[in-house]
Amino acid sequence: MRLLDLSLTSWRNLATCVVTPGSSINVFHGDNAQGKTNLIEAIFYVASLRTFRPGRISQLTRWGSPGFRLKARAEVEDRTMTLEVGMGEGARRLQVDGAPVESTEEYFGGFNVVLFTPEHLALVRGEPSGRRSFVDRALFNVNAIHLRVVRRYNRILRERNALVKQSHAGPVDLVWLEALDEQLAQAGAALVMRRLELLEELKPILARVHDELTGGGKTLRLGYRARGLAEILGKQQLQLDEGVWTALLGEALRRRRSEDLRRGFTGIGPHADDVNLVLDDRPARLAASQGEARTIVLALKLAEVLWIHDHRTEPPVLLLDDMGSELDGGRRQVLFDYISQMQCQTFVTTVDRQWVMDGEKNKYFQIVDGEVMDSAEGGF
Ligand SMILES: Nc1ncnc2c1ncn2[C@@H]1O[C@H](COP(=O)(O)OP(=O)(O)OP(=O)(O)O)[C@@H](O)[C@H]1O
Ligand SMILES: [Mg+2]
Repeated sequence: MRLLDLSLTSWRNLATCVVTPGSSINVFHGDNAQGKTNLIEAIFYVASLRTFRPGRISQLTRWGSPGFRLKARAEVEDRTMTLEVGMGEGARRLQVDGAPVESTEEYFGGFNVVLFTPEHLALVRGEPSGRRSFVDRALFNVNAIHLRVVRRYNRILRERNALVKQSHAGPVDLVWLEALDEQLAQAGAALVMRRLELLEELKPILARVHDELTGGGKTLRLGYRARGLAEILGKQQLQLDEGVWTALLGEALRRRRSEDLRRGFTGIGPHADDVNLVLDDRPARLAASQGEARTIVLALKLAEVLWIHDHRTEPPVLLLDDMGSELDGGRRQVLFDYISQMQCQTFVTTVDRQWVMDGEKNKYFQIVDGEVMDSAEGGF
């Protein structure tokens, strides 16, 4: 899939313009604070309706303007689709192929992006929530139905949390709690199953990509850590069976019930699970150097691209924001070779355009104070 063009109006500091990228590597270069990340964010937003930066949605509109508008033409499986999102008077409006759509589910029609930003180092070092969203986003990229699975689980979880919290004020309706536990176990099992299936498929891809990026040094392994199940499972292996998982989660919720009532929230379930990253038998969180952590994150993202390619028959669009200069020349060469080999349309931002390895099909843009300009190949 690829982005054919993107029109931006009043998005962050960017001037109203149309950007027409090439099908291979697109390099956006410019000094600090010119609008490079803002451009990557616009592509990410039009694809996912989310931003990767903190702050309120009102911050996305150019300061002093009444609203923003993004319009992308994308090619997905030989079909051209138009995605449009506008914000004005406090309301967001979505359009697909020129027709308004009410729900986000109708909006997501298969144009997918995979994003790498420096903040993604938290995938290795940070909290489990980042790793859970990596997994859930990958699943969503292949099938937007995953959003429904996550939302259903979260809705029941909120209900259960509200109920166990009531125990602080008085007795709780235990029949209702029992019913919610059953529903939560079912919804949770459906969610965990999808995550486990993804991880099974991702494991060999990740190991291969990591090997290639590092030239086969340390081995990287992935695992799923289901919180609160260790004492029930003992030494048994995690099984890929939804019925087994429903029973397991149901049992774990029952065992945990009095503690949940005391603490006022649900302590186990897929919302509390984690994905282990293991580098040569040690948790990567503790064992990886800065450069190793960066390579692990890149390997995860490239493995995601390849996994999506397998399922969707074409690769998603890859967004690499501010890769910095931490990768040495050798690793950079391997990275860009890998990207060209994957044949996915890529957007890279960098302060120094020399940082991106030359490629015949690279297209260069310079961003100066919110103006995006095509810059001729081969020099300034
Ligand atoms: N809503 C907004 N309206 C106008 N300007 C904004 C808005 N939001 C952010 N900006 C400004 O946009 C500018 C460019 O931000 P951006 O993060 O894209 O820079 P960058 O080119 O990626 O820089 P760096 O190389 O430092 O990462 C910043 O100076 C920021 O203050
Ligand atoms: Mg930036």
